[in-house]
Amino acid sequence: MRTIVEIIAAKRDGAPLSDAEIRHVVDSYARGALPEEQMAALAMAIWFKGLDARETGTWTDAMLRSGTVLDLSALPRRVDKHSTGGVGDKVSLILAPAAAACGVTVPMVSGRGLGHTGGTIDKLEAIPGFSADLTVARFEAILGDVGCAIIGATADIAPADKRLYALRDVTATVSSLPLIVSSIMSKKLAEGIEGLVLDVKVGGAAFMRTLPDARALAAGMIAVGERMGVRVIAFITRMDEPLGRMVGNACEVAESVALLEGGGPPELRELIVTLTGAMVEIAHGVSAAEGRARVAASLDDGAARSRFGRMVAAQGGDLAALAPPAGETVVRAPRAGWVTAIDGMAVALTCSRLGAGRRVASDPIDPAVGVRVDAPRGTRVTADAPLCTIFHGDAGPPPPEAVASLAAAFSLGAEPEPTPPLVVERLG
Ligand code: URA
Repeated sequence: MRTIVEIIAAKRDGAPLSDAEIRHVVDSYARGALPEEQMAALAMAIWFKGLDARETGTWTDAMLRSGTVLDLSALPRRVDKHSTGGVGDKVSLILAPAAAACGVTVPMVSGRGLGHTGGTIDKLEAIPGFSADLTVARFEAILGDVGCAIIGATADIAPADKRLYALRDVTATVSSLPLIVSSIMSKKLAEGIEGLVLDVKVGGAAFMRTLPDARALAAGMIAVGERMGVRVIAFITRMDEPLGRMVGNACEVAESVALLEGGGPPELRELIVTLTGAMVEIAHGVSAAEGRARVAASLDDGAARSRFGRMVAAQGGDLAALAPPAGETVVRAPRAGWVTAIDGMAVALTCSRLGAGRRVASDPIDPAVGVRVDAPRGTRVTADAPLCTIFHGDAGPPPPEAVASLAAAFSLGAEPEPTPPLVVERLG
């Protein structure tokens, strides 16, 4: 095998690395035996020269094996979903219980929000008492009983990724496609799943801004899943304006419960039926249409709502104790017009600054802070009509600049413009 310096030089010059070399590099790094400067140099070489499908698969497998791989083989039909991150993306809160109600086991290991996107764990932790920090034995017990459970990433799931992600963050190498693919897939495959549905977001408020980039990410993740014997279906979905009406933590839980009880925005329900339907399709080997029909029925007959209640209770949460906001500030339209676009990134950043998100991992979150979109895309508003409402947290009413930036996030046109569907395409 080549030395580490020769391996870095080979990748720098565009040569492929052998499987043994990749495993050696990732194992050494995970054990602390590879200096940060050598991994940084290799990450930059990969940023420029890439990894082919074999190399990406081996890199992912090595990262996955750097930590615990859950053995949930006693549980049937294990399928999860991963989203590349959006604004107002509360899909997991509804999808996991809906899939469980359709006979799918959903062992979801989820993240906290960082940057402009919110995290599923932060949303669930807005429910007083909810614990996302369970032992594997308790996780498995809830999965066996309820069919779904959602926990935070533990220190022993893909630890090599944890170190490498922090290094990429400070070496301008986060945006390397094979490193993104292996980072996401190593954590998801550590759940011991048989199938995975991917929601790859594209647009102004997404990680991937263009359709070709989103397609490449989806294709890379599908290829790795297939190499590792996991069936993957990916959807590329639009992330320009917030998903649903609520952005925040407690308010997104409230919107999820409303949807589970038959309400909620229709486009959010449609996305959930599509994504969850694909999980049912994988789990039961049925058609996409049958998968969708089963999910829609679970939302309509209360089965998904009942699973959600059982999952929250099993994880210690008390839904009835979900706190209302301390107050509200209405953001009004400066003039009449049609809402032709909502800048989801601006909404997310303002909401985060008000306390709903964090700038660094150690920042606390105020669960009560949030924004409700009162005039969704396609609405006609009169001058002074509500565009959105800010929910106050412990810090009280928002400063005027937050109100101004939210008002500016709404584009008002003289004519209505059609809102394209959320699902752009399906792959895999
Ligand atoms: N999300 C991840 O988990 N890893 C990446 O590299 C990028 C986004």
